[in-house]
Amino acid sequence: MKIIKSKAELQKAINLLREEHKTIGFIPTMGALHPGHLSLLAAARQNGQAVVCSIFVNPTQFNDKQDFEKYPVTLEEDIAKLLDTDCDILFLPGVGEIYPNGTDQLEAYELGYVETVLDGASRPGHFQGVAQVVSRLFDAVQPDDVYMGQKDYQQCLVIQRLMKLRKDTFNLHFVPTQREPDGLAMSSRNRRLNDNQRALASLLYQCLVSIEAQQDRKSFAVVQKECIDLLTHKGFTPDYVALADAVTLEPLADYDPSKKMIALIAAFIGEVRLIDNLLLNH
Ligand code: PAF
Repeated sequence: MKIIKSKAELQKAINLLREEHKTIGFIPTMGALHPGHLSLLAAARQNGQAVVCSIFVNPTQFNDKQDFEKYPVTLEEDIAKLLDTDCDILFLPGVGEIYPNGTDQLEAYELGYVETVLDGASRPGHFQGVAQVVSRLFDAVQPDDVYMGQKDYQQCLVIQRLMKLRKDTFNLHFVPTQREPDGLAMSSRNRRLNDNQRALASLLYQCLVSIEAQQDRKSFAVVQKECIDLLTHKGFTPDYVALADAVTLEPLADYDPSKKMIALIAAFIGEVRLIDNLLLNH
């Protein structure tokens, strides 16, 4: 695996792969890699592609400074995992490489409705920051395929929108969420949970399963309240428990079997904000 820090070196290495008639599967990450990330690399490999993974903790997507400062950085472990997973290139840029003109005067992307709801409403500026970095990474890598985790479903839709704005023609793959045995969605943030919080954290998934299971029996408003009450009772601070159109992310007041639906939850446990989602009737 080549570890490359500059865009110029990256381009050279990618050109060499292209000369070998390889296509490029790209996995952007912020590190603290877990099996969820590795499943994205595996998906690219399964498609016969050369694998480029980036690790860059992007300062512009953290609306909360503390969250940025506490974001887990585990570079040596990450490199060992990538070596085991058959990654061709690790792109490891510094802030100056990604934002050569600084981060103060970035032009906003017109991400539309999808950035205004749910995490977009709770974390103002977050998806603009994601779009900023992902757009720069796409320019640097020029991938044939991009692989992102469905756990960050809204982020995937934001990237779809970004690709439309940029007129990108490559494919974006939403790779299914990897879960711990108790159902907790794998996430870099799980490392910040203490033992008690970790024991409770799978409640988000249990709520999602109950939202799915009760769709023929109760209204969504009733199930939503049950979930919020349960989460609150167990010590979470729920941000949202929502049902939405899976294509547009517009909220649904009630179950609508004629639509592709997605249930989404965000909740704090202590200082850690967890998110999860489940596609219904797919
Ligand atoms: O999902 C992430 O890890 C990040 O938001 C991403 C897409 C790498 C952009 O920094």
